[in-house]
Amino acid sequence: MTDRTTIFHLSDIHFGLADDRALDWVKQEIAEKRPAAVAITGDLTMRARHREFGAATHWINSLDVPVTVEVGNHDMPYFNLIERFTTPYKRFRGMADKVEREIDLPGLAIVPLKTVRRWQPRWPWSHGWVTDAALDRTLSAIDRLPRGTRALVACHHPLVEAGTKGKAWTRGGDKALAELARRKVLATLSGHVHDAFDIVRDTPEGPVRMIGAGTLSQRIRSTPQSFNELTWNGSTIEVQVRNIDDVPTEAMQVDEVPEDAMPPREPDEPVAPVATVPRVDPPVH
Ligand SMILES: [Fe+2]
Ligand SMILES: [Fe+2]
Repeated sequence: MTDRTTIFHLSDIHFGLADDRALDWVKQEIAEKRPAAVAITGDLTMRARHREFGAATHWINSLDVPVTVEVGNHDMPYFNLIERFTTPYKRFRGMADKVEREIDLPGLAIVPLKTVRRWQPRWPWSHGWVTDAALDRTLSAIDRLPRGTRALVACHHPLVEAGTKGKAWTRGGDKALAELARRKVLATLSGHVHDAFDIVRDTPEGPVRMIGAGTLSQRIRSTPQSFNELTWNGSTIEVQVRNIDDVPTEAMQVDEVPEDAMPPREPDEPVAPVATVPRVDPPVH
């Protein structure tokens, strides 16, 4: 067993509207640091198009490290409602089957929790929802882990709000978080809100740590493109938010979004991303 294990937590790459500069930077970081695993917590694509999943497959396979992927609300068919209702995860699974590899971490397991639904009795369908069936699958996977193995639960939506500008509105999140607290999971890893956070939430069953990764897409919210570098020393996880513009980590780990989370702009720099990003569709979350 090595003393320290590094895991890169990436999220919301949104192939179709990814930020190429951020992807090149992360790829370079992975090549240099060779993390033991890369966990990607959903929204791999923008609109679940075949070509977007193709680009995701190509990029992930080029990393040449063990990767695990979770499904995000953007990864279900958006234009084809029949497919969305009948086989919502087929395109995602087609990609996941090509990129996921066995992950072997010392004393640690990454356990998935599905927080997306093909439809919901509320609008928009992009919000989080932990069904009883999804929670049961995750809890039994945790219960089956070898004694002494800690779980990192990877999901797309934060289970409860984490103080970020973007919201997840996850139904069933409080209950899920309490069950995870009861099982003393090491942390939840999530995405969706496009800003990074690292907080502890109290539940009736005790505290749970919630770690959120930012985005590597052009759809930034309060902070520049980022990913989380997690370091596991056998008992605790250390989180460092790595961002492309070198904003200090504290400003990136938002609880209440700070005014100065974005880097200061040079006076002659155009007020960019929003104006230059091609708006394909209105954002859905
Ligand atoms: Fe997203
Ligand atoms: Fe999302």
